[in-house]
Amino acid sequence: MKPFFDLSVEEMKSYGYKIVDLIAEHYHELENKKPVTIASRQEMDSIFLQEAPEKGMPADKVLDFVMHKVIPNSNISSHPKAFSFVPGPSNFISTMADSLATGFNIFSGGWIVSPAAAELEIVIINWLLKMFNFPVKKGGGIFTSGGSMANLTALATARRIKCGNDFSKAVIYLSDQAHSSNIKAIRVLGFKKEQVKIIPTDLEFKIGINKLKNEIEKDQLEGKKPFCIIASAGTTNTGTVDPLDTLADICDKENLWYHIDGAYGGAAILSKKGSRTLQGIERADSLTVDPHKWFFQPYEIGCLLVKEASWLSNTFSEKPEYLRDIEGNESEINFYDYGIQLTRRFRALYVY
Ligand SMILES: Cc1ncc(COP(=O)(O)O)c(C=O)c1O
Repeated sequence: MKPFFDLSVEEMKSYGYKIVDLIAEHYHELENKKPVTIASRQEMDSIFLQEAPEKGMPADKVLDFVMHKVIPNSNISSHPKAFSFVPGPSNFISTMADSLATGFNIFSGGWIVSPAAAELEIVIINWLLKMFNFPVKKGGGIFTSGGSMANLTALATARRIKCGNDFSKAVIYLSDQAHSSNIKAIRVLGFKKEQVKIIPTDLEFKIGINKLKNEIEKDQLEGKKPFCIIASAGTTNTGTVDPLDTLADICDKENLWYHIDGAYGGAAILSKKGSRTLQGIERADSLTVDPHKWFFQPYEIGCLLVKEASWLSNTFSEKPEYLRDIEGNESEINFYDYGIQLTRRFRALYVY
């Protein structure tokens, strides 16, 4: 077979069918496969490390190489026995939707470029808003590459809405069990170390409420500006859910932004027991959920939900001339106004 760019339609079809067969067989055989593979850098270098090739390789040869060398050297995190890491169960239909989204290379940034992609994102965000008892009319959200980007998007929004341009005195609170992506996000946003209060957890790994209240009071007395609490709805280490209602009461009383990181445990809302455990999640200003975990979607899809969609556009909207030219009416959402990415893949298609 010829190199990539010159394939005939028959060659493309036969190549694609081979890949679909391989994926279908993978799903069928999943339980019999070994979920974990370990390889050293030296072993991987010995297989893959080479100078960038001058000439293209026939597509069949590439596929053969991938199936023999790349796939077997990758863990299967969608394996039913993948207990050694955060599971990413995925599913076949969304895998095919992912292929369609990539195959048709649909730009999912602005309404005018692909209205159906924007509409599907609006529809699914509305489903999720309802699922978590967030207001559907006023509320909003955005799909991101994962939970980390959803947390970053949330904290950028929280800071913009609560602090405006001056965050020099702002303080943010989270427990010692909160996911590391929150700390990364805080660092990326340029907060200093002393603006971040890591609150020790109790014997059940829940955020220490008295310690939190004391810290907030102390910071207020020192003239600082407490502005945000991050709660965990399922910590990654133990699955512990922080006391969500109690934290919501504190945020109400102190006028703080309430962000809940539900990347790990949020999907439990779909079960009766889970929804009892997650009582209070609906009181968050912003909520991260992660469809590529317990919602059985392929990587990369995370999601941020917010109580007011305008908080996102007020934080992220930028209007260079060429984007002003393609503005529609307000109901036609441009998701590039709701987050950091301009060019975005069509993630909503996997979930739909
Ligand atoms: C609680 C929590 N938040 C955030 C993340 C980060 O999500 P992602 O890996 O999708 O960026 C994780 C990942 O395991 C998580 O468990």
